[in-house]
Amino acid sequence: MCVFFLLEFVVIHNGIITNYKDLRKFLESKGYEFESETDTETIPKLIKYMYDNRESEDTSFSALVERVIQQLEGAFALVFKSIHYPGEAVATRRGSPLLIGVRSKYKLSTEQIPVLYRTCNIENVKNICNSRVKRLDSSTCLHAVGDKAVEFFFASDASAIIEHTNRVIFLEDDDIAAVTDGKLSIHRLERSASDDPSRAIQTLQMELQQIMKGNFSAFMQKEIFEQPESVVNTMRGRVNFESSTVLLGGLKDHLKEIRRCRRLIIIGCGTSYHAAVATRQVLEELTELPVMVELASDFLDRNTPVFRDDVCFFISQSGETADTLMALRYCKEHRALTVGITNTVGSSISRETDCGVHINAGPEIGVASTKAYTSQFVSLVMFGLMMSEDRISLQKRRQEIISGLKSLPEMIKEVLSLDEKIHDLALELYKQRSLLVMGRGYNYATCLEGALKIKEITYMHSEGILAGELKHGPLALIDKQMPVIMVIMKDPCFTKCQNALQQVTARQGRPIILCSKEDTESSKFAYKTIELPHTVDCLQGILSVIPLQLLSFHLAVLRGYDVDFPRNLAKSVTVE
Ligand code: G6P
Repeated sequence: MCVFFLLEFVVIHNGIITNYKDLRKFLESKGYEFESETDTETIPKLIKYMYDNRESEDTSFSALVERVIQQLEGAFALVFKSIHYPGEAVATRRGSPLLIGVRSKYKLSTEQIPVLYRTCNIENVKNICNSRVKRLDSSTCLHAVGDKAVEFFFASDASAIIEHTNRVIFLEDDDIAAVTDGKLSIHRLERSASDDPSRAIQTLQMELQQIMKGNFSAFMQKEIFEQPESVVNTMRGRVNFESSTVLLGGLKDHLKEIRRCRRLIIIGCGTSYHAAVATRQVLEELTELPVMVELASDFLDRNTPVFRDDVCFFISQSGETADTLMALRYCKEHRALTVGITNTVGSSISRETDCGVHINAGPEIGVASTKAYTSQFVSLVMFGLMMSEDRISLQKRRQEIISGLKSLPEMIKEVLSLDEKIHDLALELYKQRSLLVMGRGYNYATCLEGALKIKEITYMHSEGILAGELKHGPLALIDKQMPVIMVIMKDPCFTKCQNALQQVTARQGRPIILCSKEDTESSKFAYKTIELPHTVDCLQGILSVIPLQLLSFHLAVLRGYDVDFPRNLAKSVTVE
């Protein structure tokens, strides 16, 4: 997000303008001087240029903004203010999310804002607005910022405005929303056949207290500790523990089609991608389909072949990640069925997919994702269970997994009770430069995700290593100085992990082992152990990632960093 002031215009910008150099060159040729190297600075200068060269004195603010965005390439959400248009604000988006919060003292009589089409002057806009306002509310509503009957908030994410209002309008690409004299109107650049003629005011289910820090020192810490409840919220109303059935309402109408598909492709970025890696094996087992997991950017770079009978899943906490969104649009072009797994109702991915699952983890504020990961994990497992309901040969396995899901909240609480021990471990490690995290099988994803957490918020070098690859390179890193965390669980890879452990100890490595409570073998070779409750192999990753979330948190605090807002990173990356 970048804010740029030019005396006459203020612009708030989220996104990236790819042709800013050309625009800058043009503006410099017209005598404009630049103070920064940012792409954002071209926008207030461009609108000032448009203003100085407007055709008539009556040119409206939104008409100027229209002209500006016709010149912009890239992704943007923009809000404009100007001393030339007092009491007005104009907002628009293309490729980056933007929503308007609506706070009103009065009940609105309609939930729809009609979309208008125009290239007209301010008089027209006023007339249209006035007639619409009457339809919106016959009493006073949407009438004026002046009497504070209605206020509008612009933001790219609902969590930014939830303390003021839970009523929001999600703007579409190329919508131009103008607040003029306290009235909101939404226009489009031009009419197209597929346009929806109105924008609904939606009520968000987010509560303010849900996004407050409470007794925790950081949102991330609060979110880690919320996991016993957030996984329950993900399963609520979906898993029936009595009848051992799972029903995901958002997918039920497409289940037949999904069962007939050729393969599943699961696409995401960062932590969301790791949730796909973590559940790939159980999905292959329960769906008996080939499952590909893909990083969205790489999937696009490769122009990956996608077929009509593929089912493509898009995993995204925010539902706005540009790479994932682009991959979704690419799969839609190839006519595959698209499924969204998101945490944000109304987000671009949840709107643009054919069907989907809301993970219901509640708002996640910390940039480093924690509870969204475990809820994505649970959602994907639930999908596998729903797909395998009729498979007689899988009933025993399904039963075992469903029992595992039932005891998950209690087991997560047990893992969280290790917090102090993990804090002590962090005290030993926080001055290190590097930290390796090694494992395999169901817990390879745990290592990738643990290492990502460490990188994101502690700025230490960290690598998630597949233990099966140890001898193909990483072994060279092992000595008595290099801290190595090994995830060794009682699962089909146990013996192979023991092998890796011996390799490490033979090189004087001092492994810190995350293992099962009942595992007496691994602890013999450990420098330190963190003992976890044992659950069914395919769910163990939910428990084993939590000590690494806690460790990264404590390391970051001890190193003196802002846990919730790490340098150079954003919660939702809305540019490619
Ligand atoms: C950013 C965040 C990560 C997140 C990734 C994917 O990089 O910093 O924490 O995992 O985006 O985000 P998404 O909202 O699509 O899950």
